[in-house]
Parts: sequence; structure tokens; C-alpha cells
Amino acid sequence: MTSRIIVVEPFDLVVFGGAGDLAYRKLLPALFRRHVDGQLPTDARVFGASRREMSDDAYRAKTAEALAQYAPEASKDDALRHAFLQRLHFVSVDAGSDRGWDALKERLNPDEGRCRAFYLAVGPELFGTICKRIGAHGLAGSGARVVIEKPIGHDLDSARQVNADVGSVFSERQIYRIDHYLGKETVQNLMALRFGNALFEPLWNSAHVDHVQITVAETIGVEGRGGYYDTSGALRDMVQNHMMQLLCLVAMETPAALDADAVRDEKIKVLRALAPIDETNIEEFTVRGQYREAPGPDGPMASYHDDVGNADSATESFVAVKANIDNWRWSGTPFYLRTGKRLPAHASEIVVAFRSIPHSIFGAGTGAIEDNRLVIRLQPDEGVRLWLMIKDPGPGGMRLRYVPLDMSFAEAFGVPSPDAYERLLLDVIRGNQTLFMRRDEVEAAWAWIDPIAAAWAASGVPPRPYPAGTWGPAGAISLIERDGRTWHGELE
Ligand code: BG6
Repeated sequence: MTSRIIVVEPFDLVVFGGAGDLAYRKLLPALFRRHVDGQLPTDARVFGASRREMSDDAYRAKTAEALAQYAPEASKDDALRHAFLQRLHFVSVDAGSDRGWDALKERLNPDEGRCRAFYLAVGPELFGTICKRIGAHGLAGSGARVVIEKPIGHDLDSARQVNADVGSVFSERQIYRIDHYLGKETVQNLMALRFGNALFEPLWNSAHVDHVQITVAETIGVEGRGGYYDTSGALRDMVQNHMMQLLCLVAMETPAALDADAVRDEKIKVLRALAPIDETNIEEFTVRGQYREAPGPDGPMASYHDDVGNADSATESFVAVKANIDNWRWSGTPFYLRTGKRLPAHASEIVVAFRSIPHSIFGAGTGAIEDNRLVIRLQPDEGVRLWLMIKDPGPGGMRLRYVPLDMSFAEAFGVPSPDAYERLLLDVIRGNQTLFMRRDEVEAAWAWIDPIAAAWAASGVPPRPYPAGTWGPAGAISLIERDGRTWHGELE
């Protein structure tokens, strides 16, 4: 089964940081896959921009290498690849001065109303400067839009500053704040499941849902990003954005329509209803950890301290949080979040755990009755499982078994899910902001995160150690077990 391909309108996409890691690893391969599927019109062009000098041909050659490495499955067809590479150009532009800006302007299509997207794949300290130059050179007209990605600030104040800088040139309608988790197929499927089926919504509240778990587990360590990661940590790197977005999509009320503001209006209500966690309750509701060296399947795994080259670092590589949402729908249903690096599995999932049946009619010999769980797997092997009790087949009387109704998207549809950037980049071109974060959302998320970070800092207690390759410190287990619940077993 193949999906429907709708060709997007012509565009000029300028990628600042066009010769950087994100561009080669994610953005250009994503565009290439869309090209292979025939979704890019003939006059769609991509401009790599950075301070360095590079010819168009050199850029195309570097990109060809990147495609071979990061999108080898997309196409072996030389003509297709060649046609894609012809869309690419390179311009040398200095964010800190006027050098190169006129040349960039000359190469872009002069039509103001045509889609002209600026992707800032650069450090956040350059967001404001680049936007101001885009504006000053008359490039921020009606068809222009700008894409930025986390970190959008380090806390509420700095996020407000980034938003103000970018907002001084572009209107909110022109700003696309990427959270790549929102581009993941299963995350969008969460909305399809919730709002395209009559089955779940009547049960989607604290009367029927006992609790929700969201796990984003990674096996990798900090992978050469130690400099950035050590100033960020799991709370800022994963919870403030990806995990809170997932929580919002699970918890939000039904939007009136699937349009950007209707969805984002509902998400922000969830963020604002989150019960504060601060120095008064930090111990009760959070656990943070940091990995230590341990033997691994491919040889010894270094400690976090060695990975970031800072023996005194008190930055967390793991965090677990019990979040409560103080509203009518969710009061009494906690959301347990956990994420970390150097965990035993690369796996992300959302578990909606339903309440127990009120009374069992089955006798003692039938086996334990487990509670229903809806498990939405984001990666790997995206899919949905609904855990149910059924009768053990065959003779032998009534014995019950806990089994999943299992749907793997790859098996069911026979096509791999597209990378999040494929969807998100084309949404930028189409002008669809539904899967992007609005300014007030980003700020509301920081407003909840800041007191947690401040309480940790004030406590002076370092993160608890856990051996690399395990599920975080023991405290993460007690965080949920002291409530009489357990982390969902499938991952373990
Ligand atoms: C990024 C974080 O936003 O998400 C990384 O900065 C993390 O630290 C990554 O590894 C995880 O994304 P994914 O799509 O691999 O789950």
C-alpha cells in the first residue's frame, strides 16, 4: 500500500548551517526522499548557506556522500540522484556582517509571495542575528517563513528572548518551531487513534485511566555532543520539549478541528494545568540519574563524566518525573515520564494503563486478571498494542491469558514510516503549523520546567549514579512502585 503523493508548491529553501551535521544527516536526506517520491516540483531549490566558501559543485558532491550514508535505501537510481543534486546551491553568507547577503538575495526568486523558507540549523545564539539580517535585506516578505529548532532558550527568560528576537522580524504565522517528535508517524497516529475512533474517548479520563507512562529510552551516550549536553541535561534536552509534547497530545481535550491553533490551544491548557514541582516536593516527584562506566555488549561503556570530559559534572543523563494534571479530566491520574541515555533499549512508548475491573466473576484457578493497557510504540517498530484478557484457547476449562492485540505499522502497511523531517519540512512549505510549537507553548513548558531545575540546583544533591546499560537509578523504580504501580514490562 502506498501513500498519496501531493506535489507541494514551488519553493526556495535556505538552510543556514547548510554544510553542518543536521543538514547532511537529516534535512538533505529527508528532501531527497521526498524528491524520489515525486513530491517536489521542478522549480524547488535548496540553498546551503554558511560562512565558508564552497562551490555549488562541491556542495553537491558532499551531499551525494551524505545521501549514500544517510539515505542509501532511498534510491539507487543515478538519474534521480543527479536531478536532486541539481536543485542544490551554495552561498557563502556571514551571519555576523552584511557579507554575502546581497548575493543570496540575487539568487533567490524575487517573487515576494512565493514560498521562501529559512531553516536555521545553527546555534540558538545566531537565531536573532540571522533573522534581523533576513529582515534588513528585505527577505522576510509575505511568502517567507523561518524554521528554528531547540534549544529554544535554556530557561523561561532566555526562551522569551529568543522568541522576541525572532518575533521582531517574523510574525507568529511565519515562525515554525520544530519539535521533531511531533513529526513522528506514531505521534500523529495518537491523534488518529484518539479522535478517529469512538472507542477510546469515553474512557480517556481519570474515571477509567489509572495512570499513563511515557518512556523515551536511548542506548547511546552523549555521542560527541558532550559540550552541549552537559549544559543541558535530560530535563532540558528531552523533557521540556519532546516528552511534554507527548504528554499534551495524550492529555489534551478534543480540539474543534485539526488546525494549528485549535490543537495548540488545547495543548497549552494542559501545560498550564500541570501541578507545580518545586523545592517543596522535588524529592517526591522527580528522580535524576547519571550513568557510570559498565561493561557493554561491544566492550566497556564509559561513564558520563568521561563522555563529557568533566569529572565534576552534576548534569543528569536520566530523569523520571511523576506529573499531575490538575484538571477535571485527569485529577487522580498521574503521568509518569522517564527518559535517559545509556539505557538497555532504544525504545519509546506511551502506555495508557486502564483501571482494574470492579469485580471478578472468575474463580481462583483462572489466573490473575491484569489491567488493560494501550501501548503506543513510537520507535522502533512503530505500532499499537492493546493488552486484553482472553480465554486460553482449547479444552481445560476457563483459564485466562493476558495477550496483546498487536498492530505493527510496518507489517500492516508494508511501508516504512517516513522520517519526521520529511513530514515537517513539507509542512513548512505547505504553511501548516499544526505540528509546530507556538510561542506561548514553549514558554509555558519552560515555566513548568524552571522550578524543577531550580529545586535540583538548590538541593545540592548530585544525580544518583546508575550503571550504563540499566534502567536508571533505583529511585526511578520506587517513584512508581510506591504508588503500587510498575513500569510497563515490555521494554525490560
Ligand atoms: C534530540 C536530543 O532532540 O532527540 C537528543 O537532543 C536525542 O539528545 C534525540 O538523542 C532523540 O531523538 P530520536 O528521534 O532519535 O528519538
